Amino acid sequence: MFSRLKIFTCNANIDLANEVVKYAGIPLGDAEVFKFSNDNTFVKIKENVRGADTFIIQPTCYPVNDSIMELLIMIDALKRASAKNISCVIPYFGYARSDKKDQPRIAITAKLVADLITTAGASRIVCMDLHSEQIQGFFNIPVDHLTSAPIFSRYFKAHLNLKNVVIVSPDAGGTERARTMAKRLNCDLAIGDKRRIGNDDKSEILNIIGDVEGKTAILIDDIIDTGGSLCKMAKALINSKAKKIYAACSHGILSGNAIQNLEDSPIEKLFITNSISLAKEKKSKKIIQLSIAELLAIAIKKIHIEESISILFR
Ligand code: R5P
Repeated sequence: MFSRLKIFTCNANIDLANEVVKYAGIPLGDAEVFKFSNDNTFVKIKENVRGADTFIIQPTCYPVNDSIMELLIMIDALKRASAKNISCVIPYFGYARSDKKDQPRIAITAKLVADLITTAGASRIVCMDLHSEQIQGFFNIPVDHLTSAPIFSRYFKAHLNLKNVVIVSPDAGGTERARTMAKRLNCDLAIGDKRRIGNDDKSEILNIIGDVEGKTAILIDDIIDTGGSLCKMAKALINSKAKKIYAACSHGILSGNAIQNLEDSPIEKLFITNSISLAKEKKSKKIIQLSIAELLAIAIKKIHIEESISILFR
């Protein structure tokens, strides 16, 4: 049934790709991806893909520009090798935060990257927890937008005491995401009111809309990058007398001082997925990583046999 299904990966998250193919029950496609000493990337598909339904698993995470180039070059290699379909499984979509022209004379980089991927020859995108829903519209090919919410909620139900819990969005933009989780867990909702005065990094005041006093707060966000937003919000929650704080983010970028920020914060545990692999130096006792491999494998298999996957969007 799956003989024409081929799953390849570049270098961004090989562990995740290996886990996905185990769930899918097929071997990882044979390909070579490396850089010449002149910094040019080289990709060779080392098996027949003529007429095949191919998938490339490649989050466009650090090193972001290399990850994007590897993906583009692998799409081109598959196209020239006569693959029938080229679906790009991009669980973390780099440049997603540059999705609007909110300052004069700036680029909308998320749209630019979408155009590059489409022009290279992709026929479908499978992504997860995009920074904003409108990024789907940046592509003129089908986009299947998966959510990790069921993975987190299943874990919370099994491992956390969910009595007297409030789900918190650190900003108004993440309200929908947090509301979905609050519904899943049958909990209250609170929203952070993030105000910036002057310089982006400084003079920040945080208010909280909603009742958090005496409650266990679970902060929900799409991305933890430097950890600034979540850690400041966690402090504000403590000031508002929250009892205990957890945080859950789909994509653990954890750049700069993120680990130190997390260690110094009142956040007891940070739950992230493995959309981005966790480097050794980024390990922390506070971090628990949940796997999205089975979710991706189910999505890939369903797409391959042309079954509905809308159940994976909610
Ligand atoms: C912002 O709009 C995102 O949803 C995250 O809140 C942001 O990416 C987190 O960045 P950092 O961890 O650097 O504060």
